[in-house]
Amino acid sequence: MRVTGTGHASMRIDTPAGSILCDPWVNPAYFASWFPFPDNSLLDWATLGQVDYLYVSHLHRDHFDAKHLRDFVSKDATVLLPEFPTSEMEDEFRGLGFTKFLKAPNEQVVELPGGLKIMIQALTSPTDGPIGDSSLWVEYDGVRLLNQNDARPTDLSVFAELGHVHAHMLQFSGAIWYPMVYELPQAAKTAFGKQKRDRQFDRTWRYIDDLKADHVFPIAGPPCFLDDELWQFNDIFGDEGNIFPDQSVFLAEYAKVGGTNGIVLLPGSVAEITTEGATTTHPQPVEEFFANKVAHLEEMRERKRGVIEAEKASWRHPEVDVLGEMKRRIEPLLDESIYLAKGVGGPVRFDLVGYDGSEVESIVVDFPGKEVRSYADEKVRYRFRTERALIEHLLHIGEVDWVNSLFLSCRFSAARIGQYNEFVYAFFKCLSEERLQYAEGWYDEHERAVDAEDITLDGWVVQRRCPHLKADLSRFGIVDGDQLTCQLHGWKFDLASGRCLTSVGHKIRAHRADAETPAPAGEAAI
Ligand code: FES
Repeated sequence: MRVTGTGHASMRIDTPAGSILCDPWVNPAYFASWFPFPDNSLLDWATLGQVDYLYVSHLHRDHFDAKHLRDFVSKDATVLLPEFPTSEMEDEFRGLGFTKFLKAPNEQVVELPGGLKIMIQALTSPTDGPIGDSSLWVEYDGVRLLNQNDARPTDLSVFAELGHVHAHMLQFSGAIWYPMVYELPQAAKTAFGKQKRDRQFDRTWRYIDDLKADHVFPIAGPPCFLDDELWQFNDIFGDEGNIFPDQSVFLAEYAKVGGTNGIVLLPGSVAEITTEGATTTHPQPVEEFFANKVAHLEEMRERKRGVIEAEKASWRHPEVDVLGEMKRRIEPLLDESIYLAKGVGGPVRFDLVGYDGSEVESIVVDFPGKEVRSYADEKVRYRFRTERALIEHLLHIGEVDWVNSLFLSCRFSAARIGQYNEFVYAFFKCLSEERLQYAEGWYDEHERAVDAEDITLDGWVVQRRCPHLKADLSRFGIVDGDQLTCQLHGWKFDLASGRCLTSVGHKIRAHRADAETPAPAGEAAI
């Protein structure tokens, strides 16, 4: 099996029974803030795009690059579709001209002509990607590969059960706006960033240890930021709180925990993988490339300046009545929302900075009051400050997912009262009837499900499944004194009270193993 690195989470897998192109991303994403790193735009995409199969793990724009798929990927390719709850991905592909689809039944091995086998695991909670993320398992002639990319299943047992895996590709770096955009003192930002960076690596080690593959390929990050306004997010300033460590940092950190089987693929690197081992060739020595990272980024910045300027010029739509349009789009959804609105539990304020940088319009999405209106000098749960032009653009194009556009762009600042609230972001990625109904239904089902099984961990009896996204705490739970950390996403719980220390709601059921009567049962998670 041959794997060609094509940048970020992208790779091309070649076998005698067919080729699969995965997640090809080349054009900037999220308001021209993210670019693939290392640069992959100079690869021979006309040739790389001539494939038998195409797999895109999810609809985040650093995986689903509509322009590139339209222009460079053969429309004869069969699209391997994860079993997602909505038809959005298939609709998008059809809109780009793809007509051949294989809808892979979730977690079932599918044998393709010539003996190529695949299995796709779809994750479908409202917090997984843009309503859905997935991983692809491939087997040919006894060689097995798992392209986990940035999916975060609770464990990898469904893949491990299919036999020893030879190549494991997974995310290791950050892909979020926290904590950089928060209006916090620099020291606090650095401390939170460092915790986040450590947590990302811990999670990566856990997945690697779960699967014990022969070779580990760090993929799906980090992006690079080429706009001067975002340049500081690149991990080139020795900031230990930067959440975007690159592949060379991965190798160094992995070595500290004893990892010796990491392989970095640059765009154009080729790995030949057999059951016996892997041989890799690179377009240039990997160490040399990372030693010259700053020069690479600076050269890219100059080359892409025109692209960024052209995108920026398309954002302003002064004819859009932002308050009126937000009311029209969002109020019907607020009316329908039970779980998300209750979970947010307070007003969320948007401060929109006008074109000249001085005028600010403040708009509130009032979740308890179920209305969108002007800010009325009140306390709010969250406050976001961004350019008015960005919101105009989102309203102009009818964007239904503001996470997959505004928030991932990092072109905003934020402040909040109290803990992180996942419902805020879940709501703003569900600005369509179909998505909102799905998310409401999902929370309804999960809040009702009684998870009665308990385990004992370091002197505490706790519910087996994490109140966040049901990770098995016998594997992911770490107890330190009275505090439990679930390592899947790093959420913390105070075991004595059951209180979640990371997010609103999500109480855990726990009591000391030697206590005669258990603590009262947890309250509802929202
Ligand atoms: S499942 Fe997310 S922190 Fe436990």
